[in-house]
Amino acid sequence: MTIQWFPGHMTRARRQIEAKLKLIDIVIELLDARVPLSSRNPMVDEILSGKPRLIVLNKADLADPRATDQWISFFSKEGHACIAVDSSTGTRVADIPQRVKELLDHKIVRMKQKGMNPRALRALIVGIPNVGKSTLINRLAGRSIALTGDRPGVTKGQQWIKVGNEMELLDTPGILWPKFEDQLVGYRLAMTGAIREEILNIEDIAFFAVRVLADRYWDTLKERFGLETPPKDVEDSEEIVKVMEDIGRKRGCLLGGGRVDLEKVSGIILRELRAGKLGRITLDEPQQ
Ligand code: G4P
Repeated sequence: MTIQWFPGHMTRARRQIEAKLKLIDIVIELLDARVPLSSRNPMVDEILSGKPRLIVLNKADLADPRATDQWISFFSKEGHACIAVDSSTGTRVADIPQRVKELLDHKIVRMKQKGMNPRALRALIVGIPNVGKSTLINRLAGRSIALTGDRPGVTKGQQWIKVGNEMELLDTPGILWPKFEDQLVGYRLAMTGAIREEILNIEDIAFFAVRVLADRYWDTLKERFGLETPPKDVEDSEEIVKVMEDIGRKRGCLLGGGRVDLEKVSGIILRELRAGKLGRITLDEPQQ
């Protein structure tokens, strides 16, 4: 894997988040429920430096519900409040302001003790590109918001979006960089569509996807593409290519001489996987 974030971007992204942290009471760390580990910024604890945090597993509609439950208990054991939502339909999004209020209860109590009228709680959404930050902001706002672009060092002119009466959201999300150095992480992100195909080879991503699916979700794969025989050994690359060829034949992806067009098959597999047509799949396991 050769893709890497230019260190300058990281420094800039970090500065932008640090400037915003001063304005807010709580961070909503948005992760992809299919890859809660791979979509997590490796330096997140350091960057958010002790701010109260709610972890939100987005795209839960596409993730394996059993694995999502395991992830929620994993994060809870680590001491983080965590909920799973689907921002595209809004399922469970309404729980977010409620959980934020619970987490900041002590702050509200303190304001009241000082004789202050508790103001709206201020939150910032952070996450890697494509995790659904804009979709979630629009859902919470209940309307389509024209998000302002990030400019270096800008903290003035930030707009607050009202979420009910008790919460406000900063209109510009904090963009974190994913952990690219790890090859496995790169492929998992690519499978979810978080890394564009121009960067990684589409056949490589599909090959990786079929290996994971054959290993952990064979019944789903079998059913979707009408396959018969599972690979004898998922570690055997030729066996995985055979599965890809089988899928290609089922979908009519043939070149001259009966050869299978692997690039075309790869596109089909990845499109259907990302759209959730292969069922609800989680690639990261808490045991990892
Ligand atoms: P970002 O701001 O973090 O970069 O992400 P953004 O909201 O733009 O969302 C990226 C893609 O993920 C969008 O799809 C969006 O619809 C989709 N998405 C966001 N949240 C969810 C969710 O909870 N479930 C599902 N299934 N999808 C979600 P897109 O194909 O890039 O655009 P669109 O045409 O679908 O909007």
